[in-house]
Amino acid sequence: MIDVKNLTVRFGGVVALNQLTLKITDDVVGLIGPNGAGKTTLTNALSGFVTVASGSASVNGLNLIDMAPHQRSRWGLARSFQKVQIVSDLTVEDHLATVLDAKGANRSLRDKAIVRALDYAGILSVRRVRGVDLNPFQRRLTEIAKCLVGAPRVILLDEPGGGLSETEMKELRKVILGIHPEFGAQILLVDHDVELIRDVCTSTAVLDFGKLIAYGPTAEVLEDEVVKAAYLGRMGAAND
Ligand SMILES: Nc1ncnc2c1ncn2[C@@H]1O[C@H](COP(=O)(O)OP(=O)(O)OP(=O)(O)O)[C@@H](O)[C@H]1O
Ligand SMILES: [Mg+2]
Repeated sequence: MIDVKNLTVRFGGVVALNQLTLKITDDVVGLIGPNGAGKTTLTNALSGFVTVASGSASVNGLNLIDMAPHQRSRWGLARSFQKVQIVSDLTVEDHLATVLDAKGANRSLRDKAIVRALDYAGILSVRRVRGVDLNPFQRRLTEIAKCLVGAPRVILLDEPGGGLSETEMKELRKVILGIHPEFGAQILLVDHDVELIRDVCTSTAVLDFGKLIAYGPTAEVLEDEVVKAAYLGRMGAAND
């Protein structure tokens, strides 16, 4: 469970998260909201990539705020980045090995864990391909596979569907749907693709200007008039 209480994050005069309180209990939960709503800031605050001004955040009862990012990762908090973090010179399997090294994972179990994650994500065949030679979808899947090695307990996925084709989205949907049953981790999924959120998230939270404007069963939230006005309306306008 992810428990956020009165969490505030500021960047100069911008209040990116404004006294946010949110209890995430379902296995797969969506996080949506217009551009600049604070979604990435929340994933950054939970994973330790930004400094929190006030408030608290815990996972399964463990207070995160005073922990360094690597300690959170060791505990089993994994996150993907909206802008994929693929290193040109590292192979796909090197990327996963780096995660395990940072966690101090047992060497003898390393290869098995890497193969399992890559096989699950459908990119085992490119395990020895370097980052520079991967296509955008393989980069995304590598980013996700990095979250799957080393016994994740909570996975934060920041717009894994960004820039993918319809066929790739279908594949991605299957991958995300299977993560909880296969790896047992709780997932917070940030995405602008409402169909993806509808398909995989039982409940969904909506942010706008750093505040929670709706939270509940996904189908209900997506029909909420306030959400439609704040999010879907503006997204529609943005797509015109
Ligand atoms: N490092 C930073 N420095 C200054 N301002 C920032 C920084 N990161 C985020 N912000 C600001 O904080 C607010 C929230 O940004 P955030 O990236 O969390 O939004 P988002 O919901 O992830 O948007 P998007 O859908 O575009 O990814 C925005 O006003 C953004 O400009
Ligand atoms: Mg973002």
